[in-house]
Amino acid sequence: MTVRIAIIGGTGVYDPEILDDVRTEQVSTPYGDISVNIGSYRGKPIAFISRHGQGHTVPPHRVNYRANIAGLKKLGVRSILATAAVGSLNRAMKPGSFVFVDQFLDFTKARAQTFFDGDEKGVVHCDVTDPYCLELREILVRAAWELRQPAASGGTYACTDGPRFESAAEITMIRQLGGDLVGMTGVPEVVLAREAEICYASIAMVTNFAAGISQTRLTHEEVLEVMSLNAENLRRLIMQAITMIGEERECACHWAVSGGPVHSKGEG
Ligand code: HPA
Repeated sequence: MTVRIAIIGGTGVYDPEILDDVRTEQVSTPYGDISVNIGSYRGKPIAFISRHGQGHTVPPHRVNYRANIAGLKKLGVRSILATAAVGSLNRAMKPGSFVFVDQFLDFTKARAQTFFDGDEKGVVHCDVTDPYCLELREILVRAAWELRQPAASGGTYACTDGPRFESAAEITMIRQLGGDLVGMTGVPEVVLAREAEICYASIAMVTNFAAGISQTRLTHEEVLEVMSLNAENLRRLIMQAITMIGEERECACHWAVSGGPVHSKGEG
């Protein structure tokens, strides 16, 4: 069965609770095997991956981003909704609210960033002017509006390697560079999805104000607590968005590397 829509669940989102008839499939990729839950929502087949594994056993710097995206590609996925717990540097983006990220800043240092590693894999310089799918973001904005959920329709996400939280000085730097949010997993996931020509949207849930902005020390427990307080909102948002995503939708993201019809001009 071809699966067109996938959810990548981040911190606090470990179970495909919204799906019916869930089964687990192992998908082999050149980067390793992944475990994917496949179920359905309102008759649409949906794939679900837990980014950190069940029980949060895989830290951000050890997530096999390439295997996850390659596995979803192999299943036929064309649209990904990815959740992420984030710290906020922007006082207008408060804990408990959603941000549908539209830009990123990459501060990771040691992650496999590409499927195109040269030699037989080729060399590709993928355009990421708009790294996140505009259409899926628009759907999320509409879904949140229909549910009357607090959400911002854009924001710049800064990705750090983790697993530690940031220093106050790092947060000051990121703020000066234009970052609104900080997290540890958004890059290279979004870039790999783009290289795989899959639409990708990020649902960032603000769990805390970032280091030095928050009056208190950050803990993973605090992040988990805010995620669990907002789990129902997140679930409803994803369900609403899925009903609005056409399985056979076409989008420019699907030609992000190959160029598609635009580049075939003048052929034949
Ligand atoms: N920093 C990095 N990652 C995070 C944070 C944070 O403050 N909160 C949730 N994920």
